[in-house]
Amino acid sequence: MNPLKHVAIIMDGNGRWGLKYKNSRNAGHKEGVNTVQKIIKASVRNNIKYLTLYAFSTENWRRPKKEIDYLFNLLEEFLLNKIESLHKQNIKLKILGSKKFSSKLNKLLNRSEKKTSKNTKLQINLALNYGSKSELMNAFKKIKKNRERINEKNLGKNLQTRGIPDPDLLIRTGNTKRLSNFLLWQLAYSEIFFEKKLWPAFNEKDYNKIIKEYRNIKRNFGNI
Ligand code: FPP
Repeated sequence: MNPLKHVAIIMDGNGRWGLKYKNSRNAGHKEGVNTVQKIIKASVRNNIKYLTLYAFSTENWRRPKKEIDYLFNLLEEFLLNKIESLHKQNIKLKILGSKKFSSKLNKLLNRSEKKTSKNTKLQINLALNYGSKSELMNAFKKIKKNRERINEKNLGKNLQTRGIPDPDLLIRTGNTKRLSNFLLWQLAYSEIFFEKKLWPAFNEKDYNKIIKEYRNIKRNFGNI
């Protein structure tokens, strides 16, 4: 059985779910937060150590301002209401991506990271204003500035995911098969599951089913 330390998720399909069932894309984002909470709980139950969630890409700024504002309000509300409970459950929060938000949200994100920084049960990496190409470019620039050698070890050290093992498993919900500029380097050997269900409809049972299937895959990392 394969060990499972790190799960990465592209939470796709909120907009379509919201339009279909509530006639509003934002209603889908709201329901999506409930799924986030279910999957956090299920990750703890499965003894997963790292859960990386793609919440907002560098490309998502192209969306209408109303939707962007709604998403960040949801995030703010989530942190204000839940960080204490996450902390009590020994869960650590880390933000991936560049924090270029309102000073209020930046402060809240920094406070949440600081408060939970010593926790050890599960680390949630929340990718916000994250883009893998820009992460890689910044890593190369840092290597050059520090006059280091370009090799895998130094690149890994200069990525935002330094110290975090690569994802064992990537799940993308929403019936779309692409990586959308997410963890391009780190996903080199991950097992990838594309799930038909939209993110708000995805639940613990679906998650456990994927985990079970993943555990039985023969992972050979290029070997035979
Ligand atoms: C993709 O669905 C989803 C997003 C861009 C946002 C994901 C954010 C959340 C689930 C809430 C974040 C909050 C917390 C607390 C982490 P889409 O809008 O692209 O869906 P579509 O493909 O149907 O349009």
